[in-house]
Amino acid sequence: MKKILALAAAALLTIPALADEGMWLLPLLQKMNGKALQEAGCKLTPEQIYSINNTSLKDAIIHFGGGCTGEIISGEGLIVTNHHCGYSSIQSLSTPEHNYLMDGYWAMSREGELPCRGLTVTFLKSMTDVTDILAKVEAKAAKGGDEKAVEEALRAKAQELTAEAEKANPNCTAQISSFYNGNVQYLIVSKVYRDIRFVGAPPASVGKFGGETDNWMWPRHTGDFSMFRVYAGADNEPADYSPENKPYRPANYLKISLAGTQEGDYAMIMGYPGRTQRFQTAAQLKQMLATNRIAIDARTVRQDLMWEAMCADPDVQLKYASKYASSANGWKKWQGEELAFEKLDIIGREERKEAAFMDWVGAKKKRQAAYGNALEKIASYVEGSSEASKAVTLLTEVPYRIELVGMASRFSNAVNRVLRNGESLGNDALEQGLAAVQRSYRDYVVDLDRKEAVALLEYYRKKADPAQYLQGLGGDFATLDIPAYVDELFDKSVFTSYEKLEAAMKSDDNKEIYENDPALKLQQSIISAVMALYPKVYEGADKLEEGSKEFAAGLLEWEKGKPSYPDANSTMRLTYGHVLPYSPKDAILYRHYTTLAGVMEKEDPTNPEFIVPARLKELYEKGDFGQYTDAADGKVHTCFLTNNDITGGNSGSPVLNAKGELIGLAFDGNWESMSSDVMFEPDLQRCICVDIRYVLFLVEKLGGARHIIDEIDLVK
Ligand code: ARG
Repeated sequence: MKKILALAAAALLTIPALADEGMWLLPLLQKMNGKALQEAGCKLTPEQIYSINNTSLKDAIIHFGGGCTGEIISGEGLIVTNHHCGYSSIQSLSTPEHNYLMDGYWAMSREGELPCRGLTVTFLKSMTDVTDILAKVEAKAAKGGDEKAVEEALRAKAQELTAEAEKANPNCTAQISSFYNGNVQYLIVSKVYRDIRFVGAPPASVGKFGGETDNWMWPRHTGDFSMFRVYAGADNEPADYSPENKPYRPANYLKISLAGTQEGDYAMIMGYPGRTQRFQTAAQLKQMLATNRIAIDARTVRQDLMWEAMCADPDVQLKYASKYASSANGWKKWQGEELAFEKLDIIGREERKEAAFMDWVGAKKKRQAAYGNALEKIASYVEGSSEASKAVTLLTEVPYRIELVGMASRFSNAVNRVLRNGESLGNDALEQGLAAVQRSYRDYVVDLDRKEAVALLEYYRKKADPAQYLQGLGGDFATLDIPAYVDELFDKSVFTSYEKLEAAMKSDDNKEIYENDPALKLQQSIISAVMALYPKVYEGADKLEEGSKEFAAGLLEWEKGKPSYPDANSTMRLTYGHVLPYSPKDAILYRHYTTLAGVMEKEDPTNPEFIVPARLKELYEKGDFGQYTDAADGKVHTCFLTNNDITGGNSGSPVLNAKGELIGLAFDGNWESMSSDVMFEPDLQRCICVDIRYVLFLVEKLGGARHIIDEIDLVK
């Protein structure tokens, strides 16, 4: 026994540290990764992955709704992404009578596919390095010695480039994105489709199985997927929603492999990672931890109240499902990050890296001139702004989270946009204001908000610097009777319901009511407090920008010759590596996949996060798994692990095998490496993926949507 364990442990330790770290830029794949990709086992050429002249894998990958990734899996524009990515759209389509979020849904025909208001998906056309073009413009303008003129010249050139690109690519949008802390610029051309319809999803008990308890953790058993479809005009181009629109015919779509994965198999992920901090300094990281701690503590106050109300009332549960999940997701992530920072000595390692960097800088005069002050500049900015930016976080995470304030804020922003055009509080302004808030009332529970308001204001009073207390709420905030204030706020404000707001705004004295509304007053008081802090927050921001740019440039020169990748910035990237287990702590080995048996093991009918639908249990007991079991063990594999380098925004990304066939969807990271946005941990960091065979099993057997299976290309 001992020997076997020792062998297993040894095997785990000798896992080849092949390709793993890196969110690689697609246009540079050949140059940076061509050989390594092959060595890692990839059977595709970089050109087959990303090409601007020929059809390539990238044509099947979409930016889903701006914050997630999705992929096209049929010739008729069928999209698969995560359940948590479709979550708010599904929630918006749900009512207590048709609760697609809780009960699941499958459109049995095209007519049943439900338009998702406001949802868009974006296809990448091309990315072109325009750094040199912009640098030349900058150099020329800089001769005049006028900073404003340089800025203006750069802005004009950027505008010329994007306008040209949009002209050359009909129906596309072009933008310039900055990489490596401002050292590199790309012109990115993409096409946005805006008629997106919901096709189907499993019930939340499957799509979000394990809830917040399992979130960010392994072992995992979540069927985290949902399906949508892109619709286009008759010419296959983007169009507003119309019943006449047709399913989009894509340039490319992914084939799906039923072969499953073995430990050590090649795996790669393409998608839209949102933000990482791999080029930040220790000073910035400490500041980030401090700010996150403020947000964690603040969110705890609000989430506890939301959770209590959600558990007590299914109507509140549906209305607050999405708000709660997104609040809790960040809240748990930051806590994991804090623990991982401590355990993995992230700050210490960063500081040692910076010391070594400074030694290298110090060795040459030229380097000293270029990079010698970078760290200093960043540190002085952080020091100068730190207290103010923490205070801003407290304001935005505490009083600003009172939903009534949010309503007043959205309403007044919309109204002010019109008023700025010179009109008085006339019909146009009011219509805009009402339109801006109407949807929000659909998911609003005023009694809950009233309770939250008391708790949040009391919490704010405890935490804020008294010198910065909110002003203008009637008397001294330090001694304000908060429950009485909140009662009056909610009793008097017209923002507590849409009907009340609409009636008031359509009455003759609307202007007076609006201007004297206590919710608007509270909102203005919070904004004034934030504005008072802004000068401090932004003081020296140019230093920060300069220092960050120099630091990144220095690091690149320091590691010259080594492949490099910039911080994530919501542009498409590739990460490649392997299917691998890991050891979370001494003596514990985590296998690289989970099975349906684990869903049954975790079942707890008394806990809303661990309910197993009766139908799923029935399928499990009957062994009714269709073609979706693993050839090696005859089981349904639910989730698996890779060492791919991902972050938020990659959710829903395709996990692809060596031939570029879909084997899973990335949906999470693991608890032991929650510092991964800052440093990659080869031994610990894993990407959690839902097995595509589990997805298809759920579509066909649980959802009864066999026609979806018939629509996609399965590779057996
Ligand atoms: N942790 C996942 C991510 O950030 C999101 C999971 C959503 N699920 C949840 N229980 N909140 O990509």
